[in-house]
Amino acid sequence: MAVKKRKTYELEVIDLAFGGKGIAKPDGFPVFIDRCVPGDLAFVKITRKKKSWAEGKLIKILTPSPLREEGRCRYCRFCGGCKWQQLPYERQLEYKKNHVAESLAHIGRLKDIRVTDVIPTDPVYEYRNKMEFSCSSQRWLMPDELADETIKKDLGIGLHVPGTFDKVIDIRQCEIMPAQGNLILEDIRTFVKASGLPAYHLRSHEGFWRFIMMRHSVAHDQWMVNIVTRDKNIDVVSRLGAELAERYPNIRSIMNNITDAKSGVSTGKEEFLIHGEDHIIEKLEAFQFKVSANSFFQTNTRACEKLYAKVREYAGLTGSETVLDLYSGTGTIPVWLSGEARQVYGIEIVHSAVVDARENVRLNGIDNCEFFEGDIKDVFRDVPEKPDVVIIDPPRVGMHKDVVGQVLAHSPERIVYVSCNPATLARDLEMLATRYAVLEVTPVDMFPHTYHIESVALLVRK
Ligand SMILES: C[S@@+](CC[C@H](N)C(=O)[O-])C[C@H]1O[C@@H](n2cnc3c(N)ncnc32)[C@H](O)[C@@H]1O
Repeated sequence: MAVKKRKTYELEVIDLAFGGKGIAKPDGFPVFIDRCVPGDLAFVKITRKKKSWAEGKLIKILTPSPLREEGRCRYCRFCGGCKWQQLPYERQLEYKKNHVAESLAHIGRLKDIRVTDVIPTDPVYEYRNKMEFSCSSQRWLMPDELADETIKKDLGIGLHVPGTFDKVIDIRQCEIMPAQGNLILEDIRTFVKASGLPAYHLRSHEGFWRFIMMRHSVAHDQWMVNIVTRDKNIDVVSRLGAELAERYPNIRSIMNNITDAKSGVSTGKEEFLIHGEDHIIEKLEAFQFKVSANSFFQTNTRACEKLYAKVREYAGLTGSETVLDLYSGTGTIPVWLSGEARQVYGIEIVHSAVVDARENVRLNGIDNCEFFEGDIKDVFRDVPEKPDVVIIDPPRVGMHKDVVGQVLAHSPERIVYVSCNPATLARDLEMLATRYAVLEVTPVDMFPHTYHIESVALLVRK
């Protein structure tokens, strides 16, 4: 059957692709369909057709897959957040493991690599320690609201319909954020509505309220609320801050970031402290970390401990080694490994992250971690010692190929590669595999109900 654009077909979903979409293969021709699970028989409209694949929009599930589960979240069929809620968690883990193994085999052409079962996370809801909700003056109406003429397209504070910048679903209950966050968000919504100030209009770029960013510390059950506005009006934000602080004593930090940038970035050009301190403290094992509004911190605290435990195991330190952590962020991995190494160096490009890293080292009373600021390919040469172990935790795009060359030139005994993208993991491991044996890859689930998967790989010099 040759599928045609704009035509509708009855298709059976047979697998899940990396990226989370279901795959049907009428006469062997792959059609990718969002929000389906294997075993679904679905009515699908072809929206995009290329030579070797097509994309379809799910019109209706004709026969649901026996695998299907009811998602806990009432927005999960529309919101971009966690689209895999219909799939049992054990199945999610199986698909994630397959995606890592298939990427290594097909993209990296790495045969017979041992990929372990995925290390699961617990709990699988209420796990995110950071959420960022957009404010919109014209929220996107849910299909059941469209029929009701009394419902207006008014204020929305929530998450986007995937692939859109201007369709914000008014999220009254987000299941992946700790429950108290929803109560705080509801109070913010009530205040914003009554404030007389308009929410941001995502097309005209006018309006006051832009984002509500919330961070939670698992260790201390503390919250940070970062209110991002287009203009400065400390008076009104302070009134909101005072209400929240009175109602929720565990809100330890309320910040106001101000930005008129048209891009949807919540980092302010100016930042003001409204209540409490300008940070919250989170813990990983016994280590403490200062988390500010705009600093990077892994978004699933408990899963992060499991990820770093695997890094520690693969690093195999005995106390005498020099470790180099590339892409060191706010220094969490150097701090984590500091007790087992003689010396740890980190390289990180973002100035504020390096400042936070040095602060985190100080906070934990550590004296064997040092950080270099800059692009790794330029700064690598400043590291004063040859590392025995190199940890690599790059962003989604993976490593710059010059950096791969620099790592190979330094020839450390072990490399531990941490990746949030199986495709670039496979590409980079293929380059490193010229001189290193890839002994094992362990996927670690940080993001239940999404297709995202973190992996840790152990490479040893041949
Ligand atoms: C995935 S994060 C890893 C952070 C840290 N390892 C952690 O677990 O929190 C990647 C980091 O690489 C940094 N980065 C990206 N490109 C870089 C480059 N060319 N040179 C140095 N650091 C870079 C980013 O700023 C970010 O902090």
